[in-house]
This record gives sequence, C-alpha cells and structure tokens, in this order.
Amino acid sequence: MNTDILTIAIDGPAASGKGTISRAIAAKFGLRHLDTGLLYRAVAACCARAKADPSDPEAAARIAQTLSPEDLNRADLRSAQTGRMASVVAAHPPVRAALLRWQRDFAVGAPGAVLDGRDIGTVVLPDARAKLFVTAEADVRAARRWRELSLKSDIAYRDVLRDIHERDERDAGRANAPMRRAENAATLDTTEMSIERAVDEAIRLIEAQV
Ligand code: DC
Repeated sequence: MNTDILTIAIDGPAASGKGTISRAIAAKFGLRHLDTGLLYRAVAACCARAKADPSDPEAAARIAQTLSPEDLNRADLRSAQTGRMASVVAAHPPVRAALLRWQRDFAVGAPGAVLDGRDIGTVVLPDARAKLFVTAEADVRAARRWRELSLKSDIAYRDVLRDIHERDERDAGRANAPMRRAENAATLDTTEMSIERAVDEAIRLIEAQV
C-alpha cells in the first residue's frame, strides 16, 4: 500500500461511539470516511425489498454483489430492524467477500480514509497506519441507542438492550471475520465519557500512532 495514504481503522460494537468518533477523526486528519456497517445494512434492506431471506447466504450474496452506491442512501438503513438483519447477512462469508473489495478500494484513494466497522483492523485493513477499538458497557450503549431510536419510533429500552446483546454475540461469535480488537489496536472505553471527551481521547490515541 502507498505509504503516503493514511488509513485509519476504527472497530467496535454497536453504539460504542465509533461512528461519531470516526467522522471527527476523518475531519481532523482531512480524510474520507466510510461507515462499513452501512454496506451490511444496505444488503439487509435490499434483501427485505426483494423479499429474499437474509439467512440464506446465496440470496444475500447475490444482493451484495450487485449493491450500488445509491443503495447506501436509502432512508430505512438506520432502523433497529435493519441493524438486526445486517448482523445476520454479515455472518455469511460470500457476503463479506463481496463487500471486501468495495471497502479496500475506498481506503486506497488519496489522501486516505477512516473506515469504521467490526473487522477493519483485523481483516479489511490489517496494515492500517492507526487502529482503534472503541467499546463501552452494553447497558450504556443500549441507553445511547435507545435515546436515538426513541426520537423516531416507540421502542422500549429493554428491547434495545436485548438487541445489543444479541448483536454483540452474533458479531463476535461468527466464524468469519468476527468482531475483535486487532492486536496492535489502541482501546478506548467510552462507558464513562461524554462524546466530546471520547473524541479528544480518540484523537490523542490516533496521533500517537501516525
Ligand atoms: O455498525 P452498524 O451497527 O451499522 O453495523 C450493522 C451490522 O453490520 C453489525 O451488527 C455487524 C455488521 N458489520 C460487520 O459485520 N462488519 C463491519 N465491518 C461492519 C458492520
């Protein structure tokens, strides 16, 4: 990889703060940003639209292979249901294979990029110049996600917490590219941090690596 290109890998579980942190890091270093969860969410949403079974690896892979940039702008990608289905399609190896090139192609364009997801530091960009694993306690993550979702829909905190636990288990427990901290990634636990403090800490941890 061209060493002039700055690649930064940010991984972590749902609602850990990694999305906000990644956008702030991209702005700070003048890089492009790709929220790779959106790719899996788009595959899930396209499965639903096509009435394809998200637990069928071949059906989901066909959709992943023909995903277009416009699919990433669909309105329903951020819903809890789409997030849950995204975690299901993400467990299929052919879906992950179809999305791998997309992510790497995005990362190698000048001046570089911040990618956030679950397997960026371990699989997508193992040679990233800087790596961060952002985490927080499950109940704190559920409360954050609940506050976000409850603005748009009537959803109970306990359902969001159950969903977070199920998603953590599926994302970390799958055989192919499970969510885990890369050995050379810095860890940032945001449980007791405001988002402003988490962003400051993240910048400090990244600056120490680039
Ligand atoms: O970050 P998110 O909640 O938008 O991600 C939705 C799902 O997509 C997540 O539960 C697991 C999957 N995902 C993945 O497997 N690998 C990634 N790099 C990003 C997301």
